[in-house]
Parts: sequence; structure tokens; C-alpha cells
Amino acid sequence: MKPLLIGPFSQLLPMTGLPLKGALKDEQLLLIENGGIVVSEGKILVIGIFDDLKSNEVDIHHIEGKTVCLPGFVDSHTHICFAGNRARDYAFRNAGKSYLEIAKAGGGIWDTVTQTRKAIQEELVTGIVSRSKTHLRNGITTIEVKSGYGLSVEEELKMLRAIKQANEKVGATLVPTCLAAHMKPKDWNHQTEYLEEISATLFPFLKAENLAYRIDAFVEESAFSPEEIKPYFQKAKAMGFDITVHADQFTTGGSQVAVDFGAISADHLEASTEKEIQLLAKSDTIATALPGATLGLGCAYTPARRILDAGGALSIASDHNPGSAPMGNLLTQSSILGTFEKLSNTEVLAGITFRAAAALRLSDRGKLEPGTWADFAIFPTDNYQEITYYQGQMKPSEVWKKGEPIHQ
Ligand code: NIG
Ligand code: FE
Repeated sequence: MKPLLIGPFSQLLPMTGLPLKGALKDEQLLLIENGGIVVSEGKILVIGIFDDLKSNEVDIHHIEGKTVCLPGFVDSHTHICFAGNRARDYAFRNAGKSYLEIAKAGGGIWDTVTQTRKAIQEELVTGIVSRSKTHLRNGITTIEVKSGYGLSVEEELKMLRAIKQANEKVGATLVPTCLAAHMKPKDWNHQTEYLEEISATLFPFLKAENLAYRIDAFVEESAFSPEEIKPYFQKAKAMGFDITVHADQFTTGGSQVAVDFGAISADHLEASTEKEIQLLAKSDTIATALPGATLGLGCAYTPARRILDAGGALSIASDHNPGSAPMGNLLTQSSILGTFEKLSNTEVLAGITFRAAAALRLSDRGKLEPGTWADFAIFPTDNYQEITYYQGQMKPSEVWKKGEPIHQ
């Protein structure tokens, strides 16, 4: 089969030639007018001016009308494997109760654990597939998915097996993460024994069944302290897992742990002070802002502007979960983060493309260049600025994954 030339695009944004870290100006953004992409076996062979790429060696897929094409978005932090919802928590919170008060009163994460434990694996698969399809329609072609509502070896396995099964059923790539250290399970008396049981019994299953290569933990006063989590991360590292951390959401301490363990990313950071910002900026750990949690909880935004100005790498993710971030619309949330934190369009788009891919240690997506997967989103406009301007209301007219248009 001949390679396929796709285009022309009014504006093609390959998101290449930009640094992983630091502030970005829109003048740095490479825009190819009347661009085209040549794809073979799911990967990009070459990108350039559409007319220059025409030849007898390629078949052509014509795209009509005004179009902006950019890499399929990457959502580097979600909890879309769950059952039930927490509308009651949301109402309580808006009536003035705090996140921690609600958790202490029996709501919060434990409520979703109870509901998720009751669900059979197939129900979880159905939920993940449906939420992933919504993400795909919004141009997100790679989605990280955490466990963390099982909180026992068996129930975490059920979640991670559901994520693996869902990955075979949706057009998007799902990247699984084990978040067994999401909170202290209420049915365990000795929390350190819980973590020991997880690392001794669950970790080998993750390897044997290829269920996850990433280990996450919620480092927070209400979950696990830095001291409690260190031996757990040590075991995870020794077994070759990547580390990622829910850090500095309400109190600080998590980002220090993340940097000490060479975590791939430290996520949340709403409570980070100058000290943590400097620490992250000087490290290789990617800072991940989760504006969906800010909008769900009505709390502060991650100090994204200061992180970028200090020289940090910033990914932006939806944190889609039934508790703190029920909306799940990454483009809406990242556009709004841009308005509040004064981020350039390039910083927002970098945060949901190549910088988000780096937060999953993936270099084969999040940008369009020879050798990367042909994952892209096409928007019906000839001005890329409209994508954030409409704050997620402009939907892609087409989404391609591994060189094929997604029909769903
Ligand atoms: O990333 N902060 C901890 N975990 C999730 C919330 C999960 C939940 O409330 O169910 C978060 O916001
Ligand atoms: Fe989260």
C-alpha cells in the first residue's frame, strides 16, 4: 500500500522545535500554512507543504474547508475507572463543607471505593470506554488512567485489568497507572502493612500481567505522609516502575518526595510555594496542573505561570474523577487555566501535547514529525487561536489515531 498524504490544512501545528521546559511565546510556534502529512503504517513519514508532498508515490486523502491540524492531545492524569458518582459531595462542598470535612463524614474517595468495589470488571470497562470515547471526540488520543478506588490487591487488580481490557476496545491509547496508595483503606488497621502488602503482592502481578509501569501515590496529610511513602517508592523504583506523585494539593511535602525519587511528574501543586516551584523547575520532574480539580473544588489554580517562568516543564491534565473533577473536559479546563494564569496559547497547547506526553515518558506522540504516531486532531477553523478562545466549545471535525480516522 502506498503512503497516504493527508491535507491540505490551513494551518498545521507540528509542535516541534520547542523546549520541554520553560516559558513559551506564540512567536516560537511553528505554523505551516497549506500543510500536509504523509503517513505510512500508522506513523508519520514526512510533514511539509501539501503541494510539495504530492507525487505518484502517495495516495491522497483530501481535507475540505478551513482546517487547523495539531497533534492528538494527551491527558496525562485521569481517574476514569470508577463506578457511581459523587454529586452529593459536590452539593455539600458548595454548601460550605470542605473536602476534608466531607471525607471525614464518610464521603470523598472512600465513597467511590465502596461503589467501585461493588461493580464487576465489565461494568468498569463500560465506564472507561464511554469516558474515553468522549475524550477522543474532543481530540484526546492518549489518556492516562489510574486505579486507586480498589485499595486491596484484588480490587486494584480488577481495576487495572479493566483498564487493560478497555484499552483494546477504544481508539485512544490508555496508559495505566497503579494508584493503590490513594488513601489509607478504612478496612486496614495498620497502614504501613497495607503498603507492604501492595508492594509485595500487587507489584509482581503488575509486571507479570503487564498491567502498569507507573506507580502513583497521594502524598498529603489526609492520605500518606512523605515518611510513610518513602519505603513504598523505594520498592517501586527497585522493581523498575516509573514514579508519579499527587503532590502539594492541600499541603506541601509531596513535590520534595517527587524530586527526591526522580518522579516523572508531580501533579496538582495548588499549594506549592516558591520553594517547591524552584525545586521542581531545577529538576527533571514535570509539573502537572489539574485545573479540573480547581474548578471542581473551587480552590486555587496550580501556579502555572510561576512554574514556567522559573524554568519548569508544565503539563496540563483533566484529573477527570467522580469527586474533585467531574467535568473531564481537558480543552475547556486548559483554556480557562490559560486565562487565569496568563499562559500563551503555545504554553497551553504544549501542556496538552508534547509536554503531557513527556509526563508519561512517551516521546512518540504529542508532536508531528517523522517517526511519531500519526495521531492528530483537526479543527474547523483557519486560525489556531480560536481553539483556546472557544474554551473547548469548538470540537474537532476529525480525529485520527495511528494514521486512521476515528469513527465513533
Ligand atoms: O487527583 N487528590 C486525590 N485524588 C483525586 C481525587 C479523587 C477523588 O476525589 O475521588 C484528585 O483530585
Ligand atoms: Fe488525581
